[in-house]
Amino acid sequence: MPAAPSQTFGAPRRHFRIVDSTNERARELAASGAPSGLVVTANEQSAGRGRRGRQWTAPPGKALLCSAILSPLGGEHALLPLAAPLAVCEAVESLSPLTCQVKWPNDVWSDECKLAGILIEAQPPSWAVIGIGLNVSVEPDEFPADLRHPATSVGHGVGAEEALKAICDRLGDWVAASPERVLAEFGSRDALRGREVQWAGASGEEGAGAGVADGIDHRGNLVVISNEGERRSLGSGEITLSMPSNRRVSD
Ligand code: BTN
Repeated sequence: MPAAPSQTFGAPRRHFRIVDSTNERARELAASGAPSGLVVTANEQSAGRGRRGRQWTAPPGKALLCSAILSPLGGEHALLPLAAPLAVCEAVESLSPLTCQVKWPNDVWSDECKLAGILIEAQPPSWAVIGIGLNVSVEPDEFPADLRHPATSVGHGVGAEEALKAICDRLGDWVAASPERVLAEFGSRDALRGREVQWAGASGEEGAGAGVADGIDHRGNLVVISNEGERRSLGSGEITLSMPSNRRVSD
């Protein structure tokens, strides 16, 4: 598979003080022919969307809420779900002393806590909207009490605007990266490898299972060695991660 053409993100930009969902606005713009690279940002969302139909909430002004349009969307972007979190990792690391990992498929974690979530919505071959929610300065007591996983923020005086600039910069690079480069970098940031995982309802898989994560295959699927000793490849699905402390966190 060839590397994708290079792409810049961040202009034009539509900013809202408050919006239902930056992904929703970006989808509308993409469907009406807005250019690739356009980003929609907001201080606050009233109906922020997470993966699997979940809600995404953040206190006003304390998270980077952005959605970038990529258009057209070709086969060369098959690993976009893995490439996007790599851009976020590099952006955060360029602005702070944090080190970042990716929890497959595209959560960005630091020190065992979720830092950013990514929701990609696509209409191939026309467009994809890459929605990124990055906790920038959310205080520990401002996260909802019922979170499914521990969460953290970038902190270190980093602001949403500089985070946006760094992410747009790194996104342009990773969207155009070859599959080999994406897979190699993902492998070095893979938070799940060697961890006990449980899965249920993964596409192409029957029922639930448990085992140990063993990396990512060339299609971007999660490879697991099941407790029965079978090597399996899981597509997008519900993966429950068992932490070493035995605390269970899910995506
Ligand atoms: C997840 O972890 O479930 C993905 C969360 C993605 C949230 C971002 S915030 C900006 C963009 N607009 C949305 O409505 N969702 C994404």
